[in-house]
Amino acid sequence: MTAPTLPQPLAGGTPTARSSAALIRAEAPVLAHNYHPLPVVVARAEGAWVEDVEGRRYLDMLAGYSALNFGHRHPALIEAAHRQLDRVTLTSRAFHHDRLAEFAEGLAELTGLDMVLPMNTGAEAVESAIKVARKWAYQVKGVAADRATIVVADGNFHGRTTTIVSFSGDPVAREGFGPFTPGFRTVPYNDLTALEEALDETTAAVLIEPIQGEAGVLIPDDGYLAGVRELTRRAGCLFVADEIQSGLGRTGTTLAVDHEAVLPDVVLLGKALGGGIVPVSAVVARREVLGVLRPGEHGSTFGGNPLAAAVGSAVVELLATGEFQRRAAELGTVLDAGLSALTGRGITGYRTRGLWAGVDVDPAIGTGREISERLLREGVLVKDTHGSTIRLAPPLTITREELESALSSLEKVLTRPQG
Ligand SMILES: Cc1ncc(COP(=O)(O)O)c(C=O)c1O
Repeated sequence: MTAPTLPQPLAGGTPTARSSAALIRAEAPVLAHNYHPLPVVVARAEGAWVEDVEGRRYLDMLAGYSALNFGHRHPALIEAAHRQLDRVTLTSRAFHHDRLAEFAEGLAELTGLDMVLPMNTGAEAVESAIKVARKWAYQVKGVAADRATIVVADGNFHGRTTTIVSFSGDPVAREGFGPFTPGFRTVPYNDLTALEEALDETTAAVLIEPIQGEAGVLIPDDGYLAGVRELTRRAGCLFVADEIQSGLGRTGTTLAVDHEAVLPDVVLLGKALGGGIVPVSAVVARREVLGVLRPGEHGSTFGGNPLAAAVGSAVVELLATGEFQRRAAELGTVLDAGLSALTGRGITGYRTRGLWAGVDVDPAIGTGREISERLLREGVLVKDTHGSTIRLAPPLTITREELESALSSLEKVLTRPQG
């Protein structure tokens, strides 16, 4: 495979005189240590590329955990943001503003649902959906007061607020953060029998990721999502699909549930909805569901602000063309072929859907962290999940040549002994 031609030097002067090493050292005493970043200090970015303080180039194969589905600084999104910055950026929801209707209309049309509750971060969208599902259970389904339950899947990742970690199975996310919020039941992922047994007259909703990203890009069996749809319909509860990481083109379709032609009652979106520019998330749902909210029951000062709505609308416009979904599907076959060729040669297994992969590295070669550090030295950014699994989620704008170059770096790291 030939190395791709590097793009032109990235625009913008160096904003800091400090070196990468000095900046990393400077963070330690003044920043909470709730992350363990790879030792790279990004100063500029464009498309699928980032550049560090010293001007070294890296191919971004993580894309902000899908927040950068359209690459860094996509021209149409930057233009939409600039235009809005020159008009009005924040109103609060105390007033109407002229960008919100278009954003909600676009998102409803894109998802095939009716109403939108705009929020900011993914965790906020999940929290909002939990509140809405409970209110719906009491008001529409007739569950006895304070008895509503929500069924979730083992291995889930929905964010890190106190209520969300209450139903996380990850001890690191939970330990030291109790007491926890009651009202959740956990069943094994990809197990329809267990799910059916967990549903009863108290069930407000089933909340699942159509593909479990943080767990290692775990893809359920064909028929699982359709089965969840059928079981929730029969049980008279809501199907809430957390598409915050899987949605908006990543898997080769607009939503990951589209692979089974399933329409949930509630879809949660975030990450890429903000175009890599601002945090934008949303609960998108049937009218009967979001219709339960009344003024004062829920809200956010920043949710649906004019800048967020302008960028979010531009994201919806990009997706409406279908181009990004097509690219993810086409390049997904390249990703899949590259990983297939490495199976038994450094990787023990992998899962792909569209431009998204969970790659299980042979533990004899290194942990996911070690492989990520070696790839960093090769000019490729990836992130480990658990143990020896790394995930690949490049921008959907990546070229075939760039993708092949990243795969050949992975091959080098896995198959050649460390020098
Ligand atoms: C499926 C899923 N839900 C929710 C979240 C939380 O999103 P945020 O980090 O924006 O709060 C994430 C983040 O990785 C996610 O992958």
